[in-house]
Amino acid sequence: MFPLPSPSLSALRLSSSLRQLPVVVIAGLAQVGAGIATFLGAFSAAQVGYAVPGLALLFGHSLSALAMARMLKLPSWWLVIEFLFMPAVVAALSLQIPAGWFLAAFVAFSLVYWSTYRTRVPLYLSGRSVWRELENALPERPQARILDLGSGLGGPMLYLAKRRPDLRIEGVEAAPLPAAFSMLRAIGCRNLRFRWGSFWRHDLSQYDVVFAYLSPAAMPDLWQKVKAEMQPGSLFISHEFVVPGVEADEIVRTGLGDRARLYLWRL
Ligand SMILES: C[S@@+](CC[C@H](N)C(=O)[O-])C[C@H]1O[C@@H](n2cnc3c(N)ncnc32)[C@H](O)[C@@H]1O
Repeated sequence: MFPLPSPSLSALRLSSSLRQLPVVVIAGLAQVGAGIATFLGAFSAAQVGYAVPGLALLFGHSLSALAMARMLKLPSWWLVIEFLFMPAVVAALSLQIPAGWFLAAFVAFSLVYWSTYRTRVPLYLSGRSVWRELENALPERPQARILDLGSGLGGPMLYLAKRRPDLRIEGVEAAPLPAAFSMLRAIGCRNLRFRWGSFWRHDLSQYDVVFAYLSPAAMPDLWQKVKAEMQPGSLFISHEFVVPGVEADEIVRTGLGDRARLYLWRL
């Protein structure tokens, strides 16, 4: 006879398998759970002859979604989204906006944020103070090759390409619209090239400097790739995000906040 799993053990297994799912799926589950809870509440009230007002139902749904999101341990900014999601849906429906606008917005957001639901690396841009420090960290050697992993709208590499025409500069970006936009910006810049694709499929061995501004979620696997592919003497630079458990060789401040830092690792 096999021992039956205890309820707490099953709950633990369920929560760790849920944690494997993409965060949007978990967020969707919280909304579905809240919908079921709200329906059951309204149904039970109707059984005793009480019709719950629409606003109370809406508020109840939002509170349940918040509770579910907490139970599922979603990051704090998702709690706000969970709470506001259903009121936003109701408000949008009551405005009677033609459905085509939602489709257009969905397509536009998809082209900009593309696989963010999976990579957990959204588009946000580094600023000039970062680009200046990045420039200071570049090798003096002409023809050195520089790569931006997840090059967004191309700002940092365009800045470097103009200041260091002696270098060969590239960016790789997965989201189609930012990739297309940066390719347009690079027209006429002979030492700069952007590609559309995933950096996970990009060989890092030919680059002297690899720059990344991604998210904490990407760093552990990226470090494995950097170690496996980058050549001795090359430089890996991350803005804002550290590699867990691997001390940087140098840290450069790029502004006033705690997170405004470049982390440099010499391979
Ligand atoms: C935080 S933004 C940084 C943009 C730019 N490097 C900058 O400093 O302004 C990160 C970018 O990485 C892109 N990205 C995420 N995962 C990627 C992947 N696997 N391959 C290529 N780009 C990726 C995202 O689409 C996003 O545009």
